[in-house]
Amino acid sequence: MSTPATRVAGAAVATEARPQQKAPAVPEGYPAARRRVQFDWESTPLHWVPDDAFSTHVMNVLHLLLPTGERWFVEVVNKATPQVRDPELLAAIKPFVRQEAWHAYAHQEVLKHLAAQGLDAKPFTERLDRYFRAVLSDHPRLPAFLQPWWLNRRLAVVAAIEHFTCVLGKWILENEELERIGADASMLDLLRWHGAEEVEHRALVWDVHDELSGSHLQRVTAMLEVAVMLSLRWYQAARFLMLNDPTLHGEKPTLRRWLRAAREKRLPSPGLLYGAVPRYMRRRHHPSQEATTAWALQYLRRSPAASVAQID
Ligand SMILES: [Fe+2]
Ligand SMILES: [Fe+2]
Repeated sequence: MSTPATRVAGAAVATEARPQQKAPAVPEGYPAARRRVQFDWESTPLHWVPDDAFSTHVMNVLHLLLPTGERWFVEVVNKATPQVRDPELLAAIKPFVRQEAWHAYAHQEVLKHLAAQGLDAKPFTERLDRYFRAVLSDHPRLPAFLQPWWLNRRLAVVAAIEHFTCVLGKWILENEELERIGADASMLDLLRWHGAEEVEHRALVWDVHDELSGSHLQRVTAMLEVAVMLSLRWYQAARFLMLNDPTLHGEKPTLRRWLRAAREKRLPSPGLLYGAVPRYMRRRHHPSQEATTAWALQYLRRSPAASVAQID
């Protein structure tokens, strides 16, 4: 298990968005607070990447996966909390839960905007919720001796997903092309605010799993499962969005379109996403190595929504 001392570098900056507040010392990869951001979707077009329905919908998949997914992440972490002993980790759980709950809410608001434009994602999100319930909920019928394993396995699955949310967060924070081609400013701000907070809290679930289980084998198998599951669900969701987009006529997502959009820096490349899998599987891996919190906070200080958000 990694000790707090190995994760402290670059910390103590998590509340710089409110300089008048005294910034508490927070280990690298843990959150200090939540930003209750609000967005106005009134003027956001259906294809918010101009003239590029494919890139728009591949990124819109986040609005389908995250409201239900992040509520389940919170359930799993809350379930594990009574067993957490590390005081710094324990203190970071509350802001983590608040951040994920607000992410779920913010993406849910976008779903309403899509529905108002004739793209109702409910049939897909209901299916997805049944899937997450099967994979991440309690199973009281399991024998008592398997219950600790079931909780640890769920934590490993959430930690693996959090690896991808951090990788995606870093990508959207670094991306300049979407802004250059005129992608909708509110949508970019939503994705970057969320991405920055994913970078900020990137180590929390990994460390909860580390404290309760620490099984490298469990981490590796969960990552393989998550890599396959996310690929499949992402494709299904993008296909659903394109087929149900009232302005498109039977268009579907293809690998060729993905490669072209990645070359044009409108989407993350397959190499970036699948290259993150073996990196996570190294024995010496820790999420604090994936990014730098101070750098993500730089964005949050200039984010139109986050810089004026209520903090709690
Ligand atoms: Fe999130
Ligand atoms: Fe997260």
